[in-house]
Amino acid sequence: MSTAREALTTIADIHAERVALGKVTIAGWVRTRRGSKKFSFLEVNDGTSGRSLQVVIDGSLPNYEAEILALTTGASVRVEGQLVSSPGQGQKFELQASSVKVYGLADPEKYPLQKKDMTYEYLRDVAHLRGRTATFAGIFRIRARVSQAIHRFFSDNGFYYIHSPLLTTSDAEGAGETFQVTTLPLAQPPRTATGGIDYSKDFFGAQAMLCVTGQLEAEALALGLGKVYTFGPTFRAENSNTSRHLSEFWMIEPEMAFYELEDNMTLAQDMIRYVVKDVLDHCADDLENIVSRNGVETREYLRMALERPFVRVTYTEAVDILKASGRTFEYPVEWGEDLKSEHERYLCEEHFKAPTIVYNYPSVLKAFYMYQNDDGKTVRAMDLLMPGIGEVIGGSQREDREHVLLEKMKTKGIPSEHLEWYIDLRRFGGVPHSGFGLGLERLLVWITGMGNVRDVIPFPRVPGVCKF
Ligand code: 4AD
Ligand code: MG
Repeated sequence: MSTAREALTTIADIHAERVALGKVTIAGWVRTRRGSKKFSFLEVNDGTSGRSLQVVIDGSLPNYEAEILALTTGASVRVEGQLVSSPGQGQKFELQASSVKVYGLADPEKYPLQKKDMTYEYLRDVAHLRGRTATFAGIFRIRARVSQAIHRFFSDNGFYYIHSPLLTTSDAEGAGETFQVTTLPLAQPPRTATGGIDYSKDFFGAQAMLCVTGQLEAEALALGLGKVYTFGPTFRAENSNTSRHLSEFWMIEPEMAFYELEDNMTLAQDMIRYVVKDVLDHCADDLENIVSRNGVETREYLRMALERPFVRVTYTEAVDILKASGRTFEYPVEWGEDLKSEHERYLCEEHFKAPTIVYNYPSVLKAFYMYQNDDGKTVRAMDLLMPGIGEVIGGSQREDREHVLLEKMKTKGIPSEHLEWYIDLRRFGGVPHSGFGLGLERLLVWITGMGNVRDVIPFPRVPGVCKF
């Protein structure tokens, strides 16, 4: 005997004509019901497709009056019946029900999802239900597809998927934006002789935090396995309430021995293109839905990204372009200052109109581990900027000279206490190596044209919000 799940046909398979006409069983959630005492039409969606299936229910079914007439948006059903070619407009198939099991009703007075156009802000508050809307189900299907494509790309190119720790004792980016992890009693923590908190008494015998990156550990494994990547959650306590920042986001970090900065750029371009092609080939319906709802046509620039090489421009050249643009930016452009979102977007959206890699940034702006150029002022850093979002990737060639690294840690005030192991990677058989970090949510914003990273992760965490 087959299990309940095995007996089900998916609505995606029906629309793709992978199912023969005749007897089928589907199960899902009612998007709408209309009809009369004599018969009803349901639009049912099971999460496998952006499109629903029309179900026709005759008033002669035994539970018609008691249950079918009570079906409203959000109710859950299992329908057995005959799949037939539909005589009606707008759909190729319909299901003529022979029996309908009602799993659960959804009181229309209370059900938070109603037919009227709900704003994305409203839907964030009911994130436990937004996966039932066409837009968000589509986004999360695309997210799943993108994630798998990334794994496939790396696997096909000789990379090993590694798992870097989430608990750490080093703020690897040195930005001081970490969430602390402790089991010390907060009201009365143990004190040192000088009155500070005595972390030697804490759970790990040292001050610990959630990771802001898995890069340093990825470097350790790359210098042994050759090419590795991580794909995991990342935590940052930056207090930025923007459409590009999450407190918990997913980052993909490849790290490659014997790669220099230019190899790193080429890899980033190849990976992005692989993912874009995969999404265009496999998520066309969902992308179409999202693009038409938002009125932001992303597919043009996605296709362009497949055809034209990504622009490569040094930070110094980028600053010159911005200065010559004649634009008044909110933040002035000065060599040595960080590029703000408005600058990044001007470069890739208006000046180059293409994905743009900016490289060789001033060392003062970047983390301690980046390779120092001979000019003494810049490091072999690279950021990939995308239309609609700005920075999607940040990476670099790594400093592999022990004495330069130690010097850099000193000037940046990075204590070596918890990083001796990292310096060891330079002391013993060090090699040139490079890597980057891709923010999954930023990539998804670029692909879908959704305006906010909060709307491409199922349950966003941002300052003040850790619901669900
Ligand atoms: O540029 P970032 O800080 O680089 C690193 O963490 C390096 N360790 C990566 C590496 O070389 N292995 O972060 C990398 C990417 C950014 O380009 C951005 O896409 C994303 O991570 N990101 C965020 N995404 C959402 N919310 C935030 N608060 C983010 N901070 C960074
Ligand atoms: Mg960055």
